[in-house]
Amino acid sequence: MPEGIIRPYEPNDRQAVRHICYETGYMGDSPSFYWGDRESFSDMWSGYYTDKEPESLFVAELNGQVVGYLLGCVDSKKAANPVGIGIRYAFLKGGLLNPTTRPTLLRTVVDAVNDSLRGASPLTGPFHDARWPSHLHINFLPEARGKGLGRKIVEAWLDKLRSLDSPGCHLETLAENTSAIAFFKSVGFEIHGDPQVAPGLRSKEGERLHGQVLVQSL
Ligand SMILES: CC(C)(COP(=O)(O)OP(=O)(O)OC[C@H]1O[C@@H](n2cnc3c(N)ncnc32)[C@H](O)[C@@H]1OP(=O)(O)O)[C@@H](O)C(=O)NCCC(=O)NCCS
Repeated sequence: MPEGIIRPYEPNDRQAVRHICYETGYMGDSPSFYWGDRESFSDMWSGYYTDKEPESLFVAELNGQVVGYLLGCVDSKKAANPVGIGIRYAFLKGGLLNPTTRPTLLRTVVDAVNDSLRGASPLTGPFHDARWPSHLHINFLPEARGKGLGRKIVEAWLDKLRSLDSPGCHLETLAENTSAIAFFKSVGFEIHGDPQVAPGLRSKEGERLHGQVLVQSL
């Protein structure tokens, strides 16, 4: 039996979700080495879900604390594009003046131009396919991992999607996040398509990173 519980999101969980989003946002670690602004990072990756589609969120609690979440979206066409939120942050909220985000913002533009000039297919925006219209993001703090809560929270989300007659769910992760890909395969997802080079992103060692889509029909 897994420790902890899975329950629907409540408005009071918003700050905990944003905290976990930033602390685990780079393959389970903090993205602070490439993005030093916590609020804009959480706006990009959790803001739509907590603020516009809270009925599609689940949280995991361990010893009374929120330690993980699944951010779901039933119809991905309605979700905000993180790239648009990033552009607004860059130009309207001082992102290009912030030394902890400016290098990544500029590198994203340079990468996108170079990748398209050399014929690579850069990530152009969120994945859309009518066979898998729903999507998810999932993140747990380190102390909550490996206890079966990830499997339980994904099952809760897929049960909800079945009850809503969604035909399928997709997710986007980094191809380099091999632990997460092993987890997603073990809960029924399959790799869909080839990894796509991700403009702006680098590993801690400075290597290019790649997006990977996984899908599950319901
Ligand atoms: C990936 C993550 C959500 C998995 O949640 P979890 O609670 O640790 O996973 P569970 O304990 O429920 O494991 C479920 C299954 O996945 C497998 N699994 C989990 N982590 C794994 C890993 N690192 N390598 C291989 N298999 C793994 C388990 O073996 C288990 O299989 P079983 O039920 O047949 O024994 C969690 O570890 C996490 O938040 N990681 C960091 C953030 C991240 O990478 N998020 C995904 C970004 S898209």
